[in-house]
Amino acid sequence: MVWGSNVMKIITGKTAVVGIIGHPVQHSFSPIMQNAAFSVASADYIYVPFNVMPECLEQAVKGLKALGVSGFNVTIPHKTAIIPFLDRLDESAEAAGAVNTVLLSEGCMIGFNTDGDGLVDSLFNDLDFSPGEAQILILGAGGASRGAIAALSRAGAKKIVVCNRSINNAEVVMSDMSKRYPQTIIDIVSQDGLTSQLLENTALLINTTSVGMKGEVFDGLNLDYLPRNAKVYDMVYTNSGTPLLRSASLSGLRAANGIGMLIAQGERAYRIWTGTNPPKDVMRHSLNSL
Ligand code: ATR
Repeated sequence: MVWGSNVMKIITGKTAVVGIIGHPVQHSFSPIMQNAAFSVASADYIYVPFNVMPECLEQAVKGLKALGVSGFNVTIPHKTAIIPFLDRLDESAEAAGAVNTVLLSEGCMIGFNTDGDGLVDSLFNDLDFSPGEAQILILGAGGASRGAIAALSRAGAKKIVVCNRSINNAEVVMSDMSKRYPQTIIDIVSQDGLTSQLLENTALLINTTSVGMKGEVFDGLNLDYLPRNAKVYDMVYTNSGTPLLRSASLSGLRAANGIGMLIAQGERAYRIWTGTNPPKDVMRHSLNSL
């Protein structure tokens, strides 16, 4: 028996199992969010964390298939490593080169990436931002950046500028994404290319790097050059807030952290597994009560 939103769930022979694989996994908020949503919706599902060591990934994926789970989330360090063990990738996962959600459908394991689309949902919900509006500046060229660029391009972004410490990594991302999404203009700059002119033309700044997690600042970035109505999104979330979000607030800019993205990627995973919409705001409230 499991508790979610203070309602006791009875597990029966018909209860569908979903979960998350990662290492470590004990700090994940997903079990709390998903079980709260299943509970409020009276959906007969249970969400369980599985701590899977990297060397056991293949066995674990085969095992989950053999056990007939309905699906599962994938987190660090398995998001890319899992790809060879899946039967098929959705466009979202193929473009991002990473999987965060797997659906088991008629014995077939299909990989999705709901992180990027979750970001787009969160930009809309938390900052009233629609990607078609104007130039977007993205800090970082790793997996999180790829997912973001892919989803923003699919959602109609006109121009994205990628700023990265290693320009070579930014070049690879620009080349891959431009081929896949030719309707979006993708430019790159190095960290010392964050000029006043670039920032003055930016409507939205997104940090996809881990910079800020331990209180670091992104070298060379001066938010004072952004237009007054520009918005700032930091995928990093810490209890005390990040230097980027504090600067945005001091500059009077609308800003949000990655909590909305975490919630929205979970809501999308719920839809993929159940085929239904999760109950509104339940995942968000489940985190507020922690
Ligand atoms: P993820 O999958 O979470 O995006 P990743 O693929 O390791 O993680 O990518 C990390 C990103 O953060 C990269 O863009 C990295 O820049 P480099 O390509 O130059 O390595 C960026 N990053 C990490 N630490 C950084 C720092 N201290 N300053 C600037 N950029 C940093």
